[in-house]
Amino acid sequence: MKEQNVTYPCSEPVLVTCGLPYASGPMHIGHMRTYVPADVFVRLLRKMRVNVTFVCGSDTHGTPIVTAAEKAGVSPKELYLKYHQHYLDLFPRLHIEFDNYGTTDDPENHHRTREIVRALQANGYVYAKELETPYCEKCGRSLPDRFVRGECPYCHADARGDECDQGCGRYLEPGEILNPRCAICGSPTKPVTRKHYYFKLTAFEDFLKEYLERVDGTKNAKNYALGWVREGLKDWCITRDLEWGVKYPGDESLTLYVWVDAPIHYISSTEQWAKRTGTPDAWEQFWLPGDGKIVHYIGQDIVYHHCIFWPAMLKGAGYNLPHAIVASGMVKIEGHNFSRSRGYVVWIEEDYLAQGLEPDLLRYYMVASTGQTRDLDFSWETFHDKVNTELVGVFGNFVYRALHFSKKHFGAVPKGSLSPDILREIERTIEGVVTGVNDYELKKVADEIMRLASVGNEYFQANKPWELVKADKEACGEILYNSLALVKALAILIEPMMPNTAEKIWSQLGYNGEDIHNALLEEAKVPPTPGSPLPKPKPVVTKIDDELLSRLKTTIERRIKDAERSDRGEPEMGMVTFEEFKKMDIRAGKILECERVPKTKKLLKLRVDIGNEERTIVTGLADLYQPEELVGMTALFLVNLEPKKIGGIESQGMILAIEHADKPDHWIPLKVEGVPPGSKVA
Ligand code: 2FM
Ligand code: ZN
Repeated sequence: MKEQNVTYPCSEPVLVTCGLPYASGPMHIGHMRTYVPADVFVRLLRKMRVNVTFVCGSDTHGTPIVTAAEKAGVSPKELYLKYHQHYLDLFPRLHIEFDNYGTTDDPENHHRTREIVRALQANGYVYAKELETPYCEKCGRSLPDRFVRGECPYCHADARGDECDQGCGRYLEPGEILNPRCAICGSPTKPVTRKHYYFKLTAFEDFLKEYLERVDGTKNAKNYALGWVREGLKDWCITRDLEWGVKYPGDESLTLYVWVDAPIHYISSTEQWAKRTGTPDAWEQFWLPGDGKIVHYIGQDIVYHHCIFWPAMLKGAGYNLPHAIVASGMVKIEGHNFSRSRGYVVWIEEDYLAQGLEPDLLRYYMVASTGQTRDLDFSWETFHDKVNTELVGVFGNFVYRALHFSKKHFGAVPKGSLSPDILREIERTIEGVVTGVNDYELKKVADEIMRLASVGNEYFQANKPWELVKADKEACGEILYNSLALVKALAILIEPMMPNTAEKIWSQLGYNGEDIHNALLEEAKVPPTPGSPLPKPKPVVTKIDDELLSRLKTTIERRIKDAERSDRGEPEMGMVTFEEFKKMDIRAGKILECERVPKTKKLLKLRVDIGNEERTIVTGLADLYQPEELVGMTALFLVNLEPKKIGGIESQGMILAIEHADKPDHWIPLKVEGVPPGSKVA
């Protein structure tokens, strides 16, 4: 628990932002660790009557984009447009609904970035300095950030130019890395000297200490950052020798480091939102000093940039400072760090949405499985357990039983009065939810909701409405009325996490499905109206069956194995190398004799002339050919397959294709008419 006062609900407008995804590859489960909690937080605040704006955008600059574009053989712009569209398409499918989603390449962002850098220059926080950076003679270019690898000067792990990505995680300044080598061709580099521009970060040490002490959010963000400031900061080189990016005002041959213009998009995305909603000055309530509260949701790996660079830049240029920085732990996959190249990755579109999985389940899992600042170890097994035991077994079970029983015996919400005990339980849950929001700990919110669902199950079970309905229908109605009051409360409370599921419950309670998104937390205390007709209920969450679970597990296992094989220089699983293929000895053979194999339905025994010898070959074609049809025909045979007993007879090869009966020299694969494409043949 933090010591701060309660912030929410608040009368000031709140701006929530999410770390921008690099538009250089598809969305994966790691992304969900920031965007889902942020979206849930926004929806919860709205349920508390807070005026919230939610913005994000695609990060389109820097070496992450340039290196990925080079790999794909396209321009940086072509690359980012493709993935920007991908993110624009996917977020709404996951019910992550930003009020604005732009890109860092939008004119507003170029403009705002240059404006801020000019303000920093004018305020005396930028100076020029000659800097030695690595250059690759073989590739003929200068090597900023991800174009260079080498040794971390702090922990000596292998690191990339701007971050010790495999060791201590520190941000590295250009020129700092030891024994640099070109990340593209591996050649050693030679140093070149040119003028770069520095931001006087050291001038902000005292300010940062004071600011970080008071900033709201999660402890991990604040404590890491305070530790770095106490270790002492270095001035920050804000220019790069790279063509792609926002030009440095004052020397257009340099571009700004991506971490200058990326967070500034939080401002320009707000400006875009303000313009679009017809209130062009509305961005100022957040960004110009005033009461608006800014809350940044980020991953733990970018705390340095958000807690050190960003507040110093805002302060130096005269902008408002973030109220809170909420950092999430990272996502692991089956205990391993996320790694596309090693196969430890779960793609949102291909592995989740395309499998027909309901987005709400993943949303719930992302916030409910572990605390905000802890690492989340994803596995399909734990996902399956969480869905089947909590969402289906506890939550869905109660909702369905209450609705089903009410519909069956009353057809409408029965008459009753809200029991003080049930009201107290709902109030207690709302309090827990508000505490969870104030602590930026949404797992607490999920736990509270599940607790209330368990209360519902126990209440239903203890009062035995199935017995009461026979003995005292009015008393039964009373129990069901209270149960439906809990169902309504659960629908409202779960909406921020599971908006689609909440809609389903809402309409099964007889309400219009849309209103649920606008329902306020306090409405959870108001039971549904007696007498309102109930439609026929259906379970709102369904179990993940074992077959789907095993398919999901197989996909990831196969990806990991494929990555391991390709690491060892072997082909992907299920692939035959050309060398292997060349080993196959396929020959034409004339069928001399053919007879059914006794006591079998499908087997035929062939005597085949393959040129230099005669072979016995058994095949399962008796349901397709009469033995006499085949005699005299020529077919293709795999003749160096190891002998195998089929139907008690040793088969010395395999039939592959057969000569077309009417057109000699035309080969037809063995009877495949009507067989669906992709059917496995052997
Ligand atoms: O680390 C990343 O994925 C960056 N694209 C995050 C940028 S967040 C913000 F500052 F723009
Ligand atoms: Zn290091």
